[in-house]
Amino acid sequence: MKRTIVTMPGDGIGPLVMKEALKVLSAVGFEADYVHGDIGWEFWKKEGNALPQRTIDLLEKHKVALFGAITSKPKAAADDELDSSLKGKGLTYYSPIVTMRQHFGLDICIRPCRSFKGNPLNFVRRGPGGTVVEPLIDTVIFRQNTEGLYGCVEWTNPPDQVYDALMTHKKFRENFAWCPRPELAVSTRIFTKKYTSRIVKAGFENAKERGLDAIYICEKPNVIRETSGMMLKVAQEMGKAEYPGIKVNDVNIDAMMMWLTKNPEDYKVIVSGNMFGDIVSDGFAGLVGGLGFACSANLGETVSVFEPTHGSAPKYADYPVSIVNPIAMILAACMMLDHIGENEKASKIRAAVSLVVEEGKVRCYDMLKLRGAPDVVNQGAASTHEMGDAVVEALKRVR
Ligand code: NAI
Ligand code: MG
Repeated sequence: MKRTIVTMPGDGIGPLVMKEALKVLSAVGFEADYVHGDIGWEFWKKEGNALPQRTIDLLEKHKVALFGAITSKPKAAADDELDSSLKGKGLTYYSPIVTMRQHFGLDICIRPCRSFKGNPLNFVRRGPGGTVVEPLIDTVIFRQNTEGLYGCVEWTNPPDQVYDALMTHKKFRENFAWCPRPELAVSTRIFTKKYTSRIVKAGFENAKERGLDAIYICEKPNVIRETSGMMLKVAQEMGKAEYPGIKVNDVNIDAMMMWLTKNPEDYKVIVSGNMFGDIVSDGFAGLVGGLGFACSANLGETVSVFEPTHGSAPKYADYPVSIVNPIAMILAACMMLDHIGENEKASKIRAAVSLVVEEGKVRCYDMLKLRGAPDVVNQGAASTHEMGDAVVEALKRVR
């Protein structure tokens, strides 16, 4: 039976990289019906909603989606660009990504950071005697996607009940009671045991599948004792009860950002809350090629959305020849294939990408360390389209 996949190309370069991913999926023999979902800035401007209900309905129905990228702008620009017929109706811009994550409870974010051999953007370090060492990195970051500091429960000048509740806390009374309420901003960091357990479990399962003997809980439980502390405790208990062969290591986010510049290859599975997961995954992505290579999966209990980590890069959207690297989007498509049980096709595509990167004949501007500009194609950089074609061609050479 043919699958139905919802495609949400979005804004800017989203549609450009989506096109290449679909081309590669077709070349690997993956047959699907693709249905288009509207999302992004255009729909905010025209309809006052960046994630129209009809797109939510499509996701509800078909469950699996590929997503490109969207453009978000600050409040003033959002109000300004709204169609004049919709102005003054009390419409508020919300990021469709955050809305989508919250609506479908896409609580598990997986961000694999694997280096491809021969990528000039790979992390290297100096070894003994001035040698250069290029360790292969194969880290998967599990980021809680719906809670924590990005849970959006926050106030400036908190209402009475909130203020009174804060005043019941000794530390608040001692350290913050001096502040006039209108000058007080509070953002909460909420962790629930249910969703903390789900992200920790996802990390353990990945370690088990890969035959690893450790996972790293990357938080800060020595200071943020309640929430980070909960994640560490959940992991320790789950490890003991269900994964006796897998050790739970505790690494603080600040220390992790230092260690990843020294020995990133030692960290294979990292589990974090929302914000620290965001930070650490960008850190690792930078070691394996950056935004042109970083892909992610957002998994809920029923709906799954696969996307590159990058945004809509609007300044590159209207070049006569598109220059952005489609590999991140292609790798996101591989994550989708794995998710729906098409692992062989996913492996084939990854092998094709490996081949292209290692051969080094076709490289987008980012891989050549050029500044993004229309003329990079004249300096030898491959276009978005040529990179897609190179992966399709390489597919014929991998088994
Ligand atoms: P961005 O990720 O769009 O671009 C930042 C820079 O990274 C680009 O200028 C370019 O140099 C490079 N880059 C991005 N994708 C690339 C690719 N495929 N190949 C080569 N180089 C690439 O982030 P920026 O400029 O901060 O945001 C632009 C817009 O995207 C904003 O409106 C922002 O809100 C939105 N955004 C959307 C995201 C999403 O849809 N998931 C994520 C991040 C930002
Ligand atoms: Mg994206």
